[in-house]
Amino acid sequence: MNSAEQPAPYGTGSTASAAPVTPLQRKVRIPHLQQAKDEGRRFAMLTAYDQYAAQIFDEAGIEVLLIGDSAANNVYGYESTLPVTVDELLPLCRAVSRASHHALVVADLPFGSYEASPAQAVMTAVRFLKEGLVAAVKVEGTHRHAPHVRAMVEAGIPVMAHIGFTPQSEHALGGYRVQGRGDSGQAIIDDAVALAEAGSFAVLMEMVPASVAAAVDAAVHVPTIGIGAGNATTGQVLVWQDMAGLRGGRVAKFVKQYAQLREILSEAARSYGDEVRSGVFPGEEHSF
Ligand code: KIV
Repeated sequence: MNSAEQPAPYGTGSTASAAPVTPLQRKVRIPHLQQAKDEGRRFAMLTAYDQYAAQIFDEAGIEVLLIGDSAANNVYGYESTLPVTVDELLPLCRAVSRASHHALVVADLPFGSYEASPAQAVMTAVRFLKEGLVAAVKVEGTHRHAPHVRAMVEAGIPVMAHIGFTPQSEHALGGYRVQGRGDSGQAIIDDAVALAEAGSFAVLMEMVPASVAAAVDAAVHVPTIGIGAGNATTGQVLVWQDMAGLRGGRVAKFVKQYAQLREILSEAARSYGDEVRSGVFPGEEHSF
């Protein structure tokens, strides 16, 4: 096979293109994300917290799956991401990792599991790779967490940095609000540079002005990923229940719903309930 016949590292796209690249042909590795940035291609990332979602997204060609600490809200029913623990996330990580054959699987280090010291960060991240079977971890932070990132990277653990609005700091930041507006934009760029220099393989930005995200993308060599950060980043991420319209209530401005799963599931449950109550289900075809 000559080089022209080699399969693309992942997907089928080899040049800058908006064409869908499904299904993935090979396992997505961290260098493939860097290659995407270097070649002007984009990639998609979604959260996943269980086997079936992971399988479906993996088969759909989503390049990166995140077991986000947003499992706190989307699986465990907490009000914020703060209460979720390492022990609550690890079983979800194992389910997603076992169901993903192509996507790069990344897990969030939850609040309280890494901030105390670089050593604590390494010990927690090791658990995620060893017990959660993930390929990389994500940590929320600022330039102040560069030592934590460096320690994990030196221990052989790939780290994605999460800057801008960091939900674990919701109280410190005064609530859910766009970060980096006006003069504070430079601080976001400085955080990104510090965390990339510390060895992060990607920088994820949440709720920052598109112009600041574009400046970050230009300032760091590693791929950037946006959620509410405009269109200039290498990748985009959404919480899957938001993307598929499963979650009820107010939809954030940065969310696009690609389906209305809540309505579909609700209708299915109503029909099932009605048919059980009326004796239509189970029919003969469902009986032995
Ligand atoms: O936990 C999470 O869902 C996240 C988002 C950036 C997707 O960190």
